[in-house]
Amino acid sequence: MAKAKTVFFCKECGFESAKWMGQCPGCKNWDTFVSEPVIKKTSGIRLATGLTAEPELLSKVSAEEEQRIITGIQELDRVLGGGIVIGSLVLVGGDPGIGKSTLLLQMCRELSGTGKKVLYISGEESLRQIKMRADRLGIFHGELFLLSETNLDQIEDIIKKQSPEIVIIDSIQTMFKEDIGAAPGSVSQVRETTAILMRIAKGLNISIFIVGHVTKEGVVAGPRVLEHMVDTVLYFEGENMASYRILRAVKNRFGSTNEIGVFEMRDIGLTEVSNPSEFMLQGKPEDEPGSVVTASMEGTRPILVEVQALVCQTNFNMPRRTAAGTDYNRVNLLMAVVEKRLGIQMAGMDAYINVAGGMKINEPALDLAIVLAILSSYKNFPLDSKTIVFGEIGLTGEVRAVNMIEQRVQEASKMGFHLCILPQVNKETINLSAIPGMKVIGVKNIREILNLLR
Ligand code: TYD
Ligand code: MG
Repeated sequence: MAKAKTVFFCKECGFESAKWMGQCPGCKNWDTFVSEPVIKKTSGIRLATGLTAEPELLSKVSAEEEQRIITGIQELDRVLGGGIVIGSLVLVGGDPGIGKSTLLLQMCRELSGTGKKVLYISGEESLRQIKMRADRLGIFHGELFLLSETNLDQIEDIIKKQSPEIVIIDSIQTMFKEDIGAAPGSVSQVRETTAILMRIAKGLNISIFIVGHVTKEGVVAGPRVLEHMVDTVLYFEGENMASYRILRAVKNRFGSTNEIGVFEMRDIGLTEVSNPSEFMLQGKPEDEPGSVVTASMEGTRPILVEVQALVCQTNFNMPRRTAAGTDYNRVNLLMAVVEKRLGIQMAGMDAYINVAGGMKINEPALDLAIVLAILSSYKNFPLDSKTIVFGEIGLTGEVRAVNMIEQRVQEASKMGFHLCILPQVNKETINLSAIPGMKVIGVKNIREILNLLR
């Protein structure tokens, strides 16, 4: 018998190649190629069932609003763009254990409670395990069907027989189609099964949610392989240690990708956090050196977070520097700018920077807050605790403009802050009429902020 042909796939992005490669040309990741047997290509996805497609005039195509199902979980509805679009395929990605199954089971609970017919298919947990989780989440009403199955042919039959309105597939990496030679979780299985689910969603007008684990190692295909196939891609993120979780849309054919939803993981499941700023500032110390509050934009939503710095004389040959929740290299760069432009000796200083609450912020608007926190700790001089700071810092020490200033200042005002230190350029354009009681100080260069610390 002839040797079975194999082909190589990148398990991160699905790039296909006849030979193994060290670096994937598609996503530039290293060591991501895995070999898989060649499979017979199935036909593409037919969107309209049974009809032969005819070209139609653009002006004649009906543009009715897509029909949506409101889940009742506001943070989720917003990220989806105003509810679940009927017949859409949604991928929910995230690290294992972050709470994807919990979120979707809670969504099922809301939906079945409002009379929707829901089918939750798990390839990872037994029915008993799902039931135990459900018991933690509260009382379920209505038609929520559970199925523990991984064979997609069977799943297809059951979906056709039961005709639910919403289906959850938890997770795509456990699903398999028998006539594909590769193991469940391989790039070919994950792609093929998703294509079939897409066909089911469009053909039968069922909204399908698929869970995809982000994989760090092993040969299991990550959810990025599927991103281009589905309508909507949501990622569920968070720190393992911190209890908050952020749901972010990275692709949405039916809405904006700027929205985020914030949740907190409790012992009774996920609860919505409608005021993330308040949540992030919990436990902030008053009048302590090294603590500065900034307003960071998460999509279109401003969130206030506290940046902390601890700067002290080093006991090592090489000073120690750490950055939690922000970019380590950026912190080093900002310390070099402080050293060079302000003439403050940072070379002999340890510096520990922390974005409190476990958020990860990488926007440049954070720069000014980091520098102020460093200087405040260095000089042992606290900033007024009702002050908020944001601005980007350039290599010559200039403070550069940031976007969405009104939103940031407004959020600060809502949270009881009354002084705002921002780039001078922004100060000149900001409209303060809607934000009474807020004092703003514009800075052009980091030299000016030294005056604020005495
Ligand atoms: P889970 O939804 O199983 O994660 P995923 O499907 O993304 O792998 O979430 C598992 C974690 O959430 C687990 O560590 C326990 C925790 N958890 C709670 O803290 N409270 C709860 O009510 C539930 C159901 C889970
Ligand atoms: Mg799970």
